[in-house]
Amino acid sequence: MFTALDHIGIATQSLDESLALYTGVFGQEIELRETLESQGVEVVLLRCGEESIELLAPTRADSPVGKFLAERGPGLHHVAYRVDDVQAALNSARAAGIELVDLVPRIGAGGHRVAFLHPRSTGRALIELVEKPG
Ligand code: CO
Repeated sequence: MFTALDHIGIATQSLDESLALYTGVFGQEIELRETLESQGVEVVLLRCGEESIELLAPTRADSPVGKFLAERGPGLHHVAYRVDDVQAALNSARAAGIELVDLVPRIGAGGHRVAFLHPRSTGRALIELVEKPG
């Protein structure tokens, strides 16, 4: 089941401004920085023990993160659990009546298979599942 946190996603308009805080003040180190053009987002992962902080900035206003920022402003965006098998986790969530954003996994930051549960089914908290076996 979902017993290990992987990362916490935070939406921002400016990665540079956020990095000034997270690396400059908090002292975190950049683990990965990449653009997922298909999802209209630039991602920075900052290692934080066994987990990470994931900063998300839109590359276009009509992307999911762009729309989130327009509607809610910057801040907490999602919580991600680490699972052995995303498809199996999706299937069990669906069987429990949870609405899914992704019926099948997509490729997320770092090339991992990921999927999202719909916030309508989770008390408005967007939940991501990240496949990291073992
Ligand atoms: Co994420």
